[in-house]
This record gives sequence, C-alpha cells and structure tokens, in this order.
Amino acid sequence: MKKFVIAFVMSLFPVVAMAATEGVKLDHIEIDLENQASLQRGMQTFVNNCLGCHSAQYQRYERAANDLGMPNELVEEHLLLGDQKIGDQMTIAMQKADAGKWFGNPPPDLTLEARLRGPDWIYTYLRSFYKDESRPWGVNNVVFADVGMPNVLEYLQGEQVNHCTPEELMHAEKKIDPLTGQEMGGCLTISKAGLQTPAEFDRTIYDLVNFMAYIGEPSKLDSHRIGTKVLIFLFIFFFIAYALKKEYWRDVH
Ligand code: HEC
Repeated sequence: MKKFVIAFVMSLFPVVAMAATEGVKLDHIEIDLENQASLQRGMQTFVNNCLGCHSAQYQRYERAANDLGMPNELVEEHLLLGDQKIGDQMTIAMQKADAGKWFGNPPPDLTLEARLRGPDWIYTYLRSFYKDESRPWGVNNVVFADVGMPNVLEYLQGEQVNHCTPEELMHAEKKIDPLTGQEMGGCLTISKAGLQTPAEFDRTIYDLVNFMAYIGEPSKLDSHRIGTKVLIFLFIFFFIAYALKKEYWRDVH
C-alpha cells in the first residue's frame, strides 16, 4: 500500500513540472504529419539553423529522407554538413563542456523536445525572443525567461521589442483585429524588419515545429499509413464477409 501511495505521488510530478510555464499563453498549432512539403521545409530550416548547436542524435538523415519523400542524393548534396554520410545520425561536433562554458547551459538534444515541451510551447518560444540589452546575447524570451540561447532566426524574423512589464508579458494575449486581420494587443512588436514578413515567419516556424514533432515520433507516420490501409481492408472485407454469410444461410432459411 505504501509503495502504491509513493508511486501515485511520483506520477503527479510531471504535471507539476509542466505547470511552471502555465502562466504564459501559448499559441496553438495543429501538427500535420501528412504535409510532406511542410516537413521538408522544416528539415531544411532545422539543419541550416539549429544543427550548429543542437543535435538530434536519435534520428538518422536517411530515415528522415525516406519518410519525407526526399531523394537521398538531394539530401546528400544540400543538407549534409562536412564529411557526414546519409546513414549518419544527426549529431554535432560541439562538445557539451565547451557549449556549457559558452552559453551557460549546453544546448540540449532536440530529438524528443517536441514530446517533452509540446509543439505549442516550441512554436511560441521560437517566436518570442525580444531585445534585452541586459542579457549576454542581447535577447530574452517570453516563455523561457533569461534563456541562454541567442535568437538565431532574427535574420528572418527581424528584431522584436517588448513594451510590457514582466507581469503583463506573462498574461498578454494577442488578438486579431477582425477588420484588418492585424495582430493587436500583444506585447511584442517588430522594430527592425527581417527577411520574412510576420506571416511568412510564422509559417517557417510552423514547418520547423512540424518537423520536430516528426523526429520525436517517426513511427507515427508509419502508423498513419498502415492505419489507413487497415481501414480500407476492413471496409472491403465487410462486404466479402456479408456475402459469405448470405451464402451460408441461404439453405437454412
Ligand atoms: C548558437 C547556438 C544555438 C543555436 C544555433 C540554436 N540554439 Fe537552441 N538553445 C541553445 C542553448 C545554449 C540553449 C539552452 C538555453 C538555456 O537552457 O538557457 C537552447 C535551448 C533551446 C530550446 C529549449 C530547450 C529546453 O527545453 O530547455 C529549444 C526548444 C531550442 N533551443 C530550439 C532551437 C531551434 C529550433 C534552433 C534552430 C532554429 C536552435 N535552438 C538553435 C543554443 C542554440
């Protein structure tokens, strides 16, 4: 009984850990693993912008290429870094100890990040960096206070400034103006434009998070495909079984 009570109490802990960021309103996205074009764009953004610091060591390039319908030669030509091979895991050269010295905290492996934090959190996080001169990299983050990561996508998004108090920042909710379609009432505004418009940047981050959700559970794609086939089979088999039943019972009735 005692063990049972301890196990029950322990099982509550993940919930408590999640509650830490509960105050901030997260922007919601629907992950779509069927959207191959989105996953391919996401992989490209990931490899070009994140793999410098973060690994995704439980994922292999080849598996991603096959799952996302990309020819191996194209991946080899455009996405592999240095002397990497298509069969390699998505690892990085940076040493954990060095990274810890440079950034305060080492950049964690991102293979399972989407399962750990959830897609909504990552989607909001990557769009919520704002200028803060008091921080080592000149930026802070709404959902990850005093973050050790620089805003690596600033060249796309532009520079964001915050005009709310920390308290307001926690609870600010963005609304869309029904007349103009513009966001209003948020705390962050773009002060210097980047290469993409806000809508384009949201799309880039959506694709990136979609890809991160895929690497967190690659077999989900297989389950979807197999599931569809099984349903089609059951549908056809229903008619066969029904015809058979009629045949058997014909003589009885
Ligand atoms: C220059 C190195 C660097 C690059 C490039 C980089 N990051 Fe980071 N990232 C970090 C560091 C360092 C941390 C740890 C921050 C901390 O704990 O304070 C981090 C933390 C994170 C976290 C939060 C991890 C957690 O749950 O605690 C996520 C998510 C993340 N990065 C995603 C990305 C994505 C996606 C990209 C590519 C667009 C990227 N990072 C590019 C250095 C980097």
